[in-house]
Amino acid sequence: MKSYFRPEIDAMAGYVPGEQPKMADLVKLNTNENPFPPSPEVEKVLRAFDCSRLRRYPDPMADALRDAFASRWGVSRANVIAGNGSDDLLTMIFRAFSSPDRPVAVLDPSYSLYQELAAMQGAPVIRIGLEPRTFALPADLLEQAAPANLLMIVRPNAPTGTLFPRETVKGICENFDGIVVIDEAYADFAPDNCVDFARELPNVIVIRTFSKSYSMAGIRLGYGIAAEEIITGLMKLKDSYNLDMLTQTAGLAAFRDEKYFTARRNEVVSMREALAGELRKRNFFVADSASNFLFVSPPGGDARRVFDELRRRAVIVRYFSAPVTAAYLRITVGTPAENARLLAAIDEIFS
Ligand SMILES: Cc1ncc(COP(=O)(O)O)c(C=O)c1O
Repeated sequence: MKSYFRPEIDAMAGYVPGEQPKMADLVKLNTNENPFPPSPEVEKVLRAFDCSRLRRYPDPMADALRDAFASRWGVSRANVIAGNGSDDLLTMIFRAFSSPDRPVAVLDPSYSLYQELAAMQGAPVIRIGLEPRTFALPADLLEQAAPANLLMIVRPNAPTGTLFPRETVKGICENFDGIVVIDEAYADFAPDNCVDFARELPNVIVIRTFSKSYSMAGIRLGYGIAAEEIITGLMKLKDSYNLDMLTQTAGLAAFRDEKYFTARRNEVVSMREALAGELRKRNFFVADSASNFLFVSPPGGDARRVFDELRRRAVIVRYFSAPVTAAYLRITVGTPAENARLLAAIDEIFS
């Protein structure tokens, strides 16, 4: 049958999200969700929510949320845009800054959605390989990225979990002639962040999500911080009511409960270090992680086999078959009980 799609869309494979399997007694460590529930304040506001309000549209600008984000980061509301997950922000950003004559530069390995978003725009993609094993930024990154209008940096990086030096990233932002997006999906688990770059530099957008550190992947909430001119432009591209009322209500409650947030975040960080130590004891290569997951290579490097063997034991981790990632597994930090199940399964596989 004749295709009515744009050729760019026909050529796309489409992003493949991590599995959400329905197996019984599953240990799910494949999509970097948080092992803890969200703040109890979320349940409180949702239970108290007056459902008759749902007949009205939500606040199209999500001002209460934007004000909360702005005050936390020392910017004004005009510097903040909220999204239906950070994927929603990424869609707006790619629509705004990439096209057939505006290439996109992405790191490799990195978040694979970027390439799909570029494909939708018909935008050429410049893939900039990270250094093998250390996953460091290459020294000639700026030269490689120079033809691009949009440069995507994930910090801490996914799927490697590693943290590029802040000063290196700042130098890149200052010297790249185009928009730099710093995707800070995992930055709450890291010792520092780059929000100040978005405050100070006219070409930097920092994006954040509630899916990881706020335990709210199911609610779909993210936000971006940038110069007012950039936010004003992105606002033109968003769906009119991109954040529903329940998300705005629940997100605000979670964001205000800083005490709960900090306690859970610290727990995840200490469980990450414990799990990394256990895997290293078992002769796994474990990249230094500043996120809520570990990028590891099993002894012998046959990650595919270990992935399959873990799956047979109802432990689901993530495997990416591309050549640069084929020797690795990405493992989300789970609860102590889940991490123990993972280690027991590994011990069985290697016994
Ligand atoms: C680097 C990175 N950015 C963005 C996202 C998307 O997050 P959200 O759930 O906010 O759309 C993910 C999700 O895994 C991610 O790994």
